Amino acid sequence: MSAQQSVLLIAGSPSEQSRSSALLDSVSHRLALRGGLVVDRLNIRELPAQALLLAEWGHPAIVKAIAQIARARAVVVATPVYKAAYSGLLKVLLDVLPQTALKEKTVLPLATGGSPHHMLALDYALRPVLQALAARHILPGVYATDSQVPQSADKRYEVGPDIAVRLDDAVLTLLAESFRQPATAGFEPVHFSRVRCSV
Ligand SMILES: Cc1cc2nc3c(=O)[nH]c(=O)nc-3n(C[C@H](O)[C@H](O)[C@H](O)COP(=O)(O)O)c2cc1C
Repeated sequence: MSAQQSVLLIAGSPSEQSRSSALLDSVSHRLALRGGLVVDRLNIRELPAQALLLAEWGHPAIVKAIAQIARARAVVVATPVYKAAYSGLLKVLLDVLPQTALKEKTVLPLATGGSPHHMLALDYALRPVLQALAARHILPGVYATDSQVPQSADKRYEVGPDIAVRLDDAVLTLLAESFRQPATAGFEPVHFSRVRCSV
């Protein structure tokens, strides 16, 4: 995998059916539409719990996870808000990473929470840790409340329209910052003669 064009999506919820993972799925879908990118995924809940909790750096699954992060140019981290911060599951992974694990990388943080009250958790709790891991650029995060990621009839979580718009913007910014792709959705330029103004 080329580090030049690779994005790693990290899912930090312990739940299999997960709203924060639905944000990640949505980002994954948008990246796939752009083409030319290698998109990899790390579901922390699938890593061995004992190796994470006891910080067994040499465990093959931890070594593999660290290598996945090392290969990526851009990292998207999704977490539920737990007790006004990010999940403990995400914390135990961050704790076993090398001190400069995010060096040269652009990071997009995503979170879901039961209410808007803890929307700043991305900034006051997660951002300093990402900074400590030497991230090159931490983009403004996207926070969604549970009501903005409703459950569909088939019990899957779906990103609502207002969050979809914010994820559109966030992905464009991520691509522009990480890979120097233009931060537009690819519209053709409009000639001045076709511009209509209303005053
Ligand atoms: C143990 C626990 C603690 C939680 N703490 C908070 C909290 O402090 N603030 C908040 O807004 N939501 C809190 N929630 C709600 C979750 O953040 C919310 O439902 C989130 O969307 C779950 O994401 P997930 O489905 O990806 O796990 C908590 C949920 C659990 C299970």
